Amino acid sequence: MSSDLTKVIERVLSDEQNVREASAPYVTEFPYDRDKEAQVTRREFCNFLFLTSSALLVSTAGFAGKAIYDAGSEVKFTPARIQGALDLKPGTALNFTYPDKEDTAILIRSEDGKYSAFGQKCTHLSCPVFYSKENKRLECPCHEGGFDAKTGTVLYGPPPRPLDMIELEVQNGEVFAVGRRVRGNES
Ligand code: FES
Repeated sequence: MSSDLTKVIERVLSDEQNVREASAPYVTEFPYDRDKEAQVTRREFCNFLFLTSSALLVSTAGFAGKAIYDAGSEVKFTPARIQGALDLKPGTALNFTYPDKEDTAILIRSEDGKYSAFGQKCTHLSCPVFYSKENKRLECPCHEGGFDAKTGTVLYGPPPRPLDMIELEVQNGEVFAVGRRVRGNES
């Protein structure tokens, strides 16, 4: 046992002895059992520990539940026309923002002419992904993550979940972004 700890224990025992000696003359007038009192204190302390750990458990479960809910949530926003989508050549991509200016996204037109769109933030550490025409996939240059260009699912690397999906609708020959879906680990 370290000498510091020994000193602390000795001081506590000495304090306890001093209190007992000082209160001894009054014990008959004011019966007070210090041993029982110490037990109550321990019980109270255990109750306190139980309550705080229960509260921690409940709040942790709440946060976990919300994270699971958020991870699979789809949010509809005001539809926004994606400028330049019609002129996009198959096998190429363009950047846009949706729903707000800071929400960067990428629209891809695959070789078969179909559109798909995703949030541009890599789900690992938020680096912007780009479309590799050569490899026909979305790639993250930061830690070599790769995503499927049609589904946004993780192909390789450290990203833990697919890219956010931008829901698209084609109306009167124009391509609109209509919603954004945050996805959990779907593997
Ligand atoms: S930030 Fe994309 S792989 Fe790390």
